[in-house]
Amino acid sequence: MVAREELLRLAREVAQNAHCPYSHFHVGAALVAGDTIFTGANVEISSYGLTLCAERAALAAAMSSGARTITQVAVACIDVAPGAPLADRTPCGACRQWLADLAPHAAIYIDGDDRDFTVPDLLPYAFGL
Ligand code: THU
Repeated sequence: MVAREELLRLAREVAQNAHCPYSHFHVGAALVAGDTIFTGANVEISSYGLTLCAERAALAAAMSSGARTITQVAVACIDVAPGAPLADRTPCGACRQWLADLAPHAAIYIDGDDRDFTVPDLLPYAFGL
């Protein structure tokens, strides 16, 4: 178990590595799997639709390392003004499906919001095979 504030701090830190020359919207994600922390930042390319979100970058890093049971996920959108609506900083639909498939029981922390979210909070009636 990693302290919520520490995981959010790591998410904010890795957000600074985002490659976002088009949106200028820096996002970072940090997750816990076993005793290891994996991080990811959003990566944009000139074909915008092929952009990789921070959450999926972190999940792919964890899966690529052989990690499987993901217990905590923190997400930070560091360009969002304090007090901005929650919808400005929550995972996109694609990332919610990735979370539903790969981290279904994780506690999810959104920087700037005090709640601990679950995957069903973010994606009720999720598709799954
Ligand atoms: N972005 C993420 O990294 N995660 C999300 O869940 C929402 C959006 C990124 C994609 C793009 O690089 C930028 O934020 C603006 O949409």
